[in-house]
Amino acid sequence: MGVVKALRCAKCGWESSSWTIFRCASCGAVLEVLLDLGNLTDSDLSEIRQRKERTIWRWFEFFPVESRSSIVSLGEGYTPLIQSFRLSEKLGLSRLYLKNDTLLPTGSLKDRSNSVGLSRAKELSFSTAAVISTGNAAASVAAYAAAAGLKSVVMVPEGTSSAKVLQAVAYGATVVVVQGSFDEDVARLYKDALKEFGWYDCLSSNPYRDEGKKSYAYEMLDQLDGEVPDWVIHPTAGGTGLYAMWKGYNELLQFGWIKRLPRLVAAQSDAAAPLVRSFEKGLAEVEPVRARDTIAESIQVGNPISVGWRALEALRASRGTAVALSDGEIIEAQSVLARFAGIFAEPAGAVSVAAAWKLLKQGVIRKDDLVVCNITGHGLKQPSAIRVSDEELRPIPPTLESLRKHIQKSAD
Ligand SMILES: Cc1ncc(COP(=O)(O)O)c(C=O)c1O
Ligand SMILES: [Zn+2]
Repeated sequence: MGVVKALRCAKCGWESSSWTIFRCASCGAVLEVLLDLGNLTDSDLSEIRQRKERTIWRWFEFFPVESRSSIVSLGEGYTPLIQSFRLSEKLGLSRLYLKNDTLLPTGSLKDRSNSVGLSRAKELSFSTAAVISTGNAAASVAAYAAAAGLKSVVMVPEGTSSAKVLQAVAYGATVVVVQGSFDEDVARLYKDALKEFGWYDCLSSNPYRDEGKKSYAYEMLDQLDGEVPDWVIHPTAGGTGLYAMWKGYNELLQFGWIKRLPRLVAAQSDAAAPLVRSFEKGLAEVEPVRARDTIAESIQVGNPISVGWRALEALRASRGTAVALSDGEIIEAQSVLARFAGIFAEPAGAVSVAAAWKLLKQGVIRKDDLVVCNITGHGLKQPSAIRVSDEELRPIPPTLESLRKHIQKSAD
């Protein structure tokens, strides 16, 4: 079981004869990993669930890596799936679960992808991993490359604050600041550089890496003891999460390990909602939009070019939906998540909670539905999103009288 059979085009069926060609030579679409999982039975499932690993690699056979000795792991996966009594009550959802991916090794969901991506890179003998990013992907690629013993190159547009790439620098990445815009200039140079230097591509144009987020489906099966959520809500940018969760859940269905599938929800910022708009218009392909600035900066993507169409497909096939949230709604969700559940997420990571709240108010989700919100990035990734006045932080004299006044003021 668990043999990588081919890289195949999901649009036209073309198959690559090489493990390192990621795009269809006929239509240009990103290829998909074809795995031969064999005929798994209920006893295989019991055996998998009893394995000691508390990482995505408990499900080794389901990822496109041939040898366990290639695995590059920092302990990713099996993040807590928790119920918060106070948050559930606040939102009015009795069966709300929070999949807390802020606790992944580099603080975001990207580690699910890059653990798989960099393991395969090692297997294919690459020496340098590359990515363009202004945030979470950069740190994650840099960390996994460090663990794998590969070099990493991270390209960012000029104007990107150094705070965003500090984490990648700490892991030893070479950071290249490029003049021009992200979507055009940096992206073009990145594409040329991959060809010129033979670097390993760590974007969603890499089919191996895209398999990593299937782990959500496997972990939820385990953590909910076989129960399938009515809804899984995912903060969405490139669409890899939706695409991969759908693929993972369908694999579980194929073996009869679950009896039905969850409905998937794409949660986006209304400043960058190409999937929501395309879903509403009933399109098969994503119509790119010009992304505006949003507090949810990690998901500020206007053109989910690689797997966006697959995400749309997953939304429809699952009878799911797509919802756009304003910055106000996102900040409010970030705040209630922290103050009622004790989880500090970056704004983009809390968009799923904003979507759950909105869909409940709209009557799309019912109050006793089993709802999972993926919480995808740590709050410390973007501390500037938390408003605090100088007045609040001004030092007070060390007297009880001053302390009393300060507490009184903040209670007002
Ligand atoms: C915090 C956070 N949440 C969600 C996403 C969504 O990614 P995708 O739609 O590719 O699963 C990203 C990455 O872009 C992210 O950084
Ligand atoms: Zn094709």
